[in-house]
Amino acid sequence: MELVELEEVDSTNEYLKRIDFREGFCVIARKQTGGKGRRGKNWLSLKDKGLYISFMYPPLSPSVISLSSLAFGVAVLNTLKSFKEDFYLKWPNDIYINGKKIAGILPELLRDRLIVGIGINLSYSEEELSDFPVPATSLKIERISFNRDQLIKSLIAEINSYYNKLSTGQFNVKEFEQNCPLIGKEIAVHNQEGSFKARALGIDQNGYLIVEDEEGNIKRLFSGDVSVRF
Ligand code: BTN
Repeated sequence: MELVELEEVDSTNEYLKRIDFREGFCVIARKQTGGKGRRGKNWLSLKDKGLYISFMYPPLSPSVISLSSLAFGVAVLNTLKSFKEDFYLKWPNDIYINGKKIAGILPELLRDRLIVGIGINLSYSEEELSDFPVPATSLKIERISFNRDQLIKSLIAEINSYYNKLSTGQFNVKEFEQNCPLIGKEIAVHNQEGSFKARALGIDQNGYLIVEDEEGNIKRLFSGDVSVRF
């Protein structure tokens, strides 16, 4: 894997869109001036406070693209779990600990390339994270000691491994389900249709979240935000 480290960039995902395609190329920035989150949100990207990294791969077939969010979520989860067991996944691809978000993934499929952007909160303080769109935390706040180089090395190995699993049809959604405590719980769903209450039943082979709404209708969710109902 070819790795480039930049002092500053608008967004590591955007950077990989501008350059010629190079298989197995990844870029890290110490700071992003226009970090992007999912669903048009910004991603907080202060200098050295987080890991901002994007990978470039050949595009995957449309049949597995909906699974890619989940697979890369498991890859980031495995990396973080090597530091502490307590991390878990929230569908479709957020990584949480103690009820707070610590990492997010932004996969973008272009005609000739798949870009996988990952942001992990490393040393942000609670105050710095106070404007984050959802309750958020960092490795520092959680008092988890880590070595940045080791974290990057392990992340690259995991992301490559899950890209290979996806491209050879070997990713099993069970790996995601087992690490997603939302399954079996009463949840609130927020998507284009609005908000409704439901029970999360599981994840199907396409990576869709299967829920049962209060009228007993079974629905498959492709996108949207879900939260546990208390
Ligand atoms: C999310 O909203 O959960 C996804 C966040 C993805 C952030 C990362 S940081 C590196 C890459 N570059 C970006 O602009 N976004 C992703």
